[in-house]
Amino acid sequence: MNPKRVLVAYGSKHGATAGIADEIGRTLRADGLDAVVLSAADVTDVSGYDGVVLGGALYAGMWNGAARRCARRNADQLRHRPLWLFSSGPVDRSAEEHDIRPAPGVARRIKRLGAREHMTFGGALTDETPGVFARSMVRSGKGGDFRNPERIQAWAHHIGTELTAPAPPEAPARP
Ligand SMILES: Cc1cc2nc3c(=O)[nH]c(=O)nc-3n(C[C@H](O)[C@H](O)[C@H](O)COP(=O)(O)O)c2cc1C
Repeated sequence: MNPKRVLVAYGSKHGATAGIADEIGRTLRADGLDAVVLSAADVTDVSGYDGVVLGGALYAGMWNGAARRCARRNADQLRHRPLWLFSSGPVDRSAEEHDIRPAPGVARRIKRLGAREHMTFGGALTDETPGVFARSMVRSGKGGDFRNPERIQAWAHHIGTELTAPAPPEAPARP
């Protein structure tokens, strides 16, 4: 039997969210799925995938624009396949300490697209992150890499398990 095809798409400005998407893709492949990782900006057609994972970096409480546009552009197809969304994220330990609710715009997308789940992962803001604001945050001690590979892998395993689970038997027709 052919492995399930999964698209892992990301909207990332400085690479942290791309790293999370790569980790999800690697884990799904190790679990035997055919996972493809793409920048959200390059996703024009999701009809060839059995499931989609779409993530965006959060900036001022909003998903990165490429993730938003990808969700909008592919909405009709996304509504008809298993979909998981993620956000990256807090530059502290909060994402590991408790579930972080999706930002309002992301919450609307979850509903509109019928996503199965949303997860917030810690993000990263380091010396290498470009941008004046990012640099001043790092300089004032508000930086760090809070991506947790074990948490990311655990979520990816869970997605892989759901996608490969046998479909439940159809309910018997009522007499
Ligand atoms: C200007 C700026 C605004 C940010 N706003 C948020 C925010 O509203 N919520 C949040 O959780 N993280 C916020 N962050 C942290 C980023 O989401 C985090 O660094 C993320 O991992 C960056 O992902 P990227 O490298 O893929 O762009 C912000 C970072 C910067 C530099």
